Amino acid sequence: MARRKIYQVGDDTLRQVSKPVTEFDDKLSQLMDDMIDTLIYADGAGLAAPQIGVLKRIFVATFDGGRTIIEAVNPTIVQAKGKRVAAEGCLSIPNVSEKVERPRHVVVNAFDRHGNPIKLVANGFEASCYCHEIDHLDGILFTDKSISKRR
Ligand code: NI
Repeated sequence: MARRKIYQVGDDTLRQVSKPVTEFDDKLSQLMDDMIDTLIYADGAGLAAPQIGVLKRIFVATFDGGRTIIEAVNPTIVQAKGKRVAAEGCLSIPNVSEKVERPRHVVVNAFDRHGNPIKLVANGFEASCYCHEIDHLDGILFTDKSISKRR
């Protein structure tokens, strides 16, 4: 495992659309270990691959003070219900916290690092986190959706 540099807002990499993962190999596994290492060291909730300069559709997340680690490859939101407004932050946009409206409940289909299909069912904070990370894979930052600025 190795920590990677987290790309910061202003870097064009964060605005690119990431490509689906096609090879579920050792290289992918190594990349995901690095992402988890980077996320935990940075003390964040979620990290998407483009944030470390890799334009692949992958995110990792951690909840419960690091006791739960979620990995998702090629994630897609297949169900979204309700609305929730909460303040968000991002490791690529330090010291900024703004309110964003997200679904209250989401179901995400994805794959694990071995290519096995997984289903993530989330509410509240976790649901917001998955939506935030999936946005990164399409070059969208939470500040684009901020309702703090809109009056
Ligand atoms: Ni982020």
